[in-house]
Amino acid sequence: MAVYYATKGYVLLFSEAIADDLRGTGVTVTALCPGPTATGFPQVAGMSHSRLFNLLKPMRSADVARYGIRAMERGKRVAIPGMANKLLTQSIRVSPRRLVTTIVRKLQESR
Ligand SMILES: NC(=O)c1ccc[n+]([C@@H]2O[C@H](COP(=O)([O-])OP(=O)(O)OC[C@H]3O[C@@H](n4cnc5c(N)ncnc54)[C@H](OP(=O)(O)O)[C@@H]3O)[C@@H](O)[C@H]2O)c1
Repeated sequence: MAVYYATKGYVLLFSEAIADDLRGTGVTVTALCPGPTATGFPQVAGMSHSRLFNLLKPMRSADVARYGIRAMERGKRVAIPGMANKLLTQSIRVSPRRLVTTIVRKLQESR
């Protein structure tokens, strides 16, 4: 998952940068950053048995999509659906990287 997560980091920072480049043009960019969501993803990614998809209750894909569309309509640059996901991302900001990668690894592993 190292490449997967690093790529997501790139997409987020790139989205924020071009959102700023486009300021004042009437074009907005919104990066939708969901947590675990009930889609075909866990099967395709081989993560059905991971703690991430079993300890946390995945959000419904329709709710995530609705949240993302509303955020886009409001011109928000970053949209994080769900209170637990919001709290998680804030806690990551103030946690040592080494602790974050250790916890993320545990979440990827099977129960
Ligand atoms: N589900 C989660 O928990 C979760 C959490 C955070 C972020 N995300 C991100 O959300 C995005 C959508 O994932 P999802 O959960 O909706 O997964 P999904 O149910 O597996 O859907 C992925 C979709 O992408 C299409 N696709 C895959 N490779 C493609 C390609 N090379 N060209 C064009 N289309 C392609 C698939 O089409 P086919 O069905 O035709 O193959 C499928 O419709 C992904 O970027 C994922 O990383 C998902």
